[in-house]
Amino acid sequence: MSSCPSLVLRSGAKMPQVGLGTWKAGPGVVASVVEEALRAGYRHLDCACDYGNEHEVGQGIKAAIDAGVCKREDIFVTSKLWNTYHHKEHVRPACERTLKDLGLDYIDLYLIHFPISLKFVPFEKRYPPEWIHDPEAANPKMEVDPVPLSETWAAMEELVDAGLVKDIGVSNFNCQLLADLLSYARIKPSVNQVELHPYLTQEFLVRFCKENGVVVTGYSPFGALSYASIGMAKEEESVLNNEVIGKIGEKHGKSPAQVSLRWACQRGYTVVPKSANIDRLKQNLNVFDFELSQEEMEAISGLNRNRRYNDPGVFTELAFNTFYPIHN
Ligand code: A2P
Repeated sequence: MSSCPSLVLRSGAKMPQVGLGTWKAGPGVVASVVEEALRAGYRHLDCACDYGNEHEVGQGIKAAIDAGVCKREDIFVTSKLWNTYHHKEHVRPACERTLKDLGLDYIDLYLIHFPISLKFVPFEKRYPPEWIHDPEAANPKMEVDPVPLSETWAAMEELVDAGLVKDIGVSNFNCQLLADLLSYARIKPSVNQVELHPYLTQEFLVRFCKENGVVVTGYSPFGALSYASIGMAKEEESVLNNEVIGKIGEKHGKSPAQVSLRWACQRGYTVVPKSANIDRLKQNLNVFDFELSQEEMEAISGLNRNRRYNDPGVFTELAFNTFYPIHN
């Protein structure tokens, strides 16, 4: 297996191009999956408070470090500030809780998870707080509590000053919001993590980030697959069933998943496929021993349908009774 290249962030830190996603990595298995992934050569883990499993991810990291598989400084760990912690006084406690759960004394990259500010829920009341403010209420719903991005960002910058995080960034941000943030940030965002796959290529956003020194991370690299289990998509829609991708894979002796990940890496961004299956997670890291031609890259990019699965404009109303679009 050829080794995984890295992209260099503003701080000079190196972010391996393929990381292990941990969203929906279930309790009881995630610690061993993380340990196995580190044994298999992963050096980049993508985590978040909202995934509700950082404590177990931390156990996996510790097991690997204790077994001599890697050192702390060899791995790149990302986490994300949840929507209920956007007020300046909540940013540091939220980061410290994540650090405690992960068992780390710094995070490599800390992102604002969504440009959506929700009413604060005390840590001792519910953690992670998720989207609905009061699940016991007669009409449970998401409650928006607007906070200026400049306030949250200044508190994120203080985390860098305090040495708790090395780089800071955002997730699910569009070009306008990023342009505004770049105009005043003292420490500029290093990364924007967004949904990216052959059915949602986001050419303009990817280019804008590149031209402004913001490294892109693509999540849900197989499209529908990640959303089928939560009723937000049909599995048949997965890019892994696409004929064009399948044929390209056959030519290179690679799976459709490997072709999708290779396409992402050749587009120049980092990618964080989740797998709780050891063979699949090994397969996902094994994408650096072949190259897609210009024609193959264009054929895959040509599959774009602007199909977004993780769209708050849809799921906030359907699941949380509050309409809150962010991409329009
Ligand atoms: P599993 O964990 O059973 O492997 P995401 O888009 O959030 O990163 O999730 C990826 C989804 O695709 C998960 O449902 C995961 O399931 C599945 N998956 C991950 N890697 C592969 C692969 N190489 N081939 C097929 N399915 C995969």
